[in-house]
Amino acid sequence: MRPSHSGPRIDMQTTSSLAPETTIAVIGAGRLGGVLARALRTAGYQVLGPLRREQAMPTVDIALLCVPDAAIAAVAFVARPHARLVGHVSGATPLDDVDFSIHPLQTFAGSETPDVFHGIGAAVAGRTPDALATAEQLARGLGARPFGVDDDDRATYHAAASFSSNFVLAALDAAEQLASEAGIPADEARDRLAPLVRRTVDNWVAGGARAALTGPIARGDEATVARQRAASGGFQDLFDALAVATRAIAAREETA
Ligand SMILES: NC(=O)c1ccc[n+]([C@@H]2O[C@H](COP(=O)([O-])OP(=O)(O)OC[C@H]3O[C@@H](n4cnc5c(N)ncnc54)[C@H](OP(=O)(O)O)[C@@H]3O)[C@@H](O)[C@H]2O)c1
Repeated sequence: MRPSHSGPRIDMQTTSSLAPETTIAVIGAGRLGGVLARALRTAGYQVLGPLRREQAMPTVDIALLCVPDAAIAAVAFVARPHARLVGHVSGATPLDDVDFSIHPLQTFAGSETPDVFHGIGAAVAGRTPDALATAEQLARGLGARPFGVDDDDRATYHAAASFSSNFVLAALDAAEQLASEAGIPADEARDRLAPLVRRTVDNWVAGGARAALTGPIARGDEATVARQRAASGGFQDLFDALAVATRAIAAREETA
């Protein structure tokens, strides 16, 4: 059986494909390592791991490092003699110590099922055509859509990912705490705010931030903005930073 999927459109073409007997060691049993090992196994590959730091490195075709970025160089050094290709899954780290990278553009807590990869983007890169083809094939085998990111752009690309996930959470956590200060219990606050968050994201996906922006800054209701700021308590610095960014969006010409 050859790993394959009949999912969404793919963004890159490749000429080679990985044989189903390809052996892959997933190194690092953290949030992504466990999910990735399950998904690669489901895709039909021979997967060892996720391997913990105390486990010996087996001899395999591919070693896939799912360790913190700071550990990639050291773990790659250990894996190198045992694998034909060494890859990492880091968004920000260049390819200095590995042959390829596959970065799934999603957040993983560790309990996800293999279909979490279906239809998501996966940034792929390789130091050789063979290594790049391997990264693309792994992405496709998982059901993801591979796309390329140059080494020089990786930090910028990963900053975009952090703005899309980590910093959204920082804003949502402030919202939850302010709602709580307004007398709405935290659980209820998340439930009440969720439709607003989802619609905002849907509108942004459909037409970008300028078209999606509503609220007092977009309306020019400066007295309301000042009252909100005064009521923001411990979040005033965050309010100010986000207000600057929001004013910049509001000042943009609408393109649609
Ligand atoms: N989680 C995500 O949402 C996500 C999304 C896309 C990409 N990634 C990428 O995935 C990689 C791992 O991230 P993560 O979120 O899964 O981190 P994590 O939950 O902190 O897991 C990292 C794992 O690596 C292990 N480890 C560290 N040094 C090791 C070594 N020398 N040998 C074997 N295992 C070692 C850690 O073990 P100990 O606990 O024993 O230290 C831990 O289990 C990073 O490159 C990250 O950029 C993560």
